Amino acid sequence: MEMCPLQYYPTTRTIPTQHRPRERVGHREVCYYGGGSRSTRREPPGHSVETDKPERYQKIDLQVKVGDNFDQPRPSKKCTMGVFEKKSCFVIAGASRGLGRSMAISFAKKARRESVMILLSRDMKALKEVETEIKSSCQDVKVVVSEFDQGDLDEKKFSNIFENIFKENNLSIDNFEQAVIVHNAGTLGDNSKYVKDLVNVSELNTHFGVNVTGNILLNSACLNFFTQEKFAHRYVINISSLTAVKAFKSFSLYCTVKAARDMFYKVMTEEEPTIRVLSYAPGPCETDMQIKCRENTSDPEVKQMFESLYKEGNVLECDASIKKLVQILETDTFVSGAHIDYYDV
Ligand SMILES: NC(=O)c1ccc[n+]([C@@H]2O[C@H](COP(=O)([O-])OP(=O)(O)OC[C@H]3O[C@@H](n4cnc5c(N)ncnc54)[C@H](OP(=O)(O)O)[C@@H]3O)[C@@H](O)[C@H]2O)c1
Repeated sequence: MEMCPLQYYPTTRTIPTQHRPRERVGHREVCYYGGGSRSTRREPPGHSVETDKPERYQKIDLQVKVGDNFDQPRPSKKCTMGVFEKKSCFVIAGASRGLGRSMAISFAKKARRESVMILLSRDMKALKEVETEIKSSCQDVKVVVSEFDQGDLDEKKFSNIFENIFKENNLSIDNFEQAVIVHNAGTLGDNSKYVKDLVNVSELNTHFGVNVTGNILLNSACLNFFTQEKFAHRYVINISSLTAVKAFKSFSLYCTVKAARDMFYKVMTEEEPTIRVLSYAPGPCETDMQIKCRENTSDPEVKQMFESLYKEGNVLECDASIKKLVQILETDTFVSGAHIDYYDV
């Protein structure tokens, strides 16, 4: 069996000013990271790649074995009306700030009247502020905020979460045509450590608990509540990252959970062909998490990359990235299970 190597060719310039994503071609994808215009090119399977790109480009060549279709997500039933046309129940995990907050507000503005936005996070005060902001411009949409800790791995809390929310807020599942679940809640983990320094079991369990186990439990709760019998149209959006496909020194904890989640949702795509699944990598966005990337990263080269992104004005506003996500969902032509980056669109 052929290997599935991820070859990374560093260049003389190691600080990309922008991330350029990949292009899927058969069983191979090629992508370039660097400034300037978009730069992807097709490569026939099995060929070695000579780059004619300027040195500032960094190339990632992802190869998988011939005939292995794991990287070619099966298209699920395509909804031609776009996500926002139907009376929907939106669930956004991690809606208190950053990208989740921006998503909650943008989705509410687009949502069909009488849709409901269920916003989850640990910070009720911040969630209520998001609710107020939505209500000031979207009177037709109902907003429900609910305290939720994705790292509190109590099976009952997860399995009952939606029954409780629906009961407490007099919602009826029969009132909606569609469910849209966004798995956005996430943490960076300790980016001040290298791989060899990861020795603390509770720190590791906490990180994987919030970002992987808690995410899986929330997803199962969604699938078991918003069932196929009741919802002909279901979308699951995993907020992914470039780090799911590219390794950054001192980001082992973050890269690992993002890669794990991408694969988890690819498997779900195989198992649940009626669900439209998307892993969206939002690009570098100015949030609390991005600030930690600039401030706490131990690896000097990677730290400098984040600092340069900021100094050179290449960190995105959350709203700009979410606008692209909205565009992808409105067009609704993505292949279910795909990993799509902000810079792909
Ligand atoms: N910013 C970027 O450049 C970037 C790039 C690629 C991917 N992403 C991804 O985008 C998503 C949002 O990140 P962000 O940049 O907006 O970060 P952020 O500003 O730090 O926001 C993180 C969100 O996750 C929630 N969260 C964290 N721990 C939680 C827990 N235990 N239980 C429930 N909710 C929890 C937070 O809510 P509370 O603290 O209120 O609970 C908050 O709403 C993450 O999945 C991140 O990996 C971000």
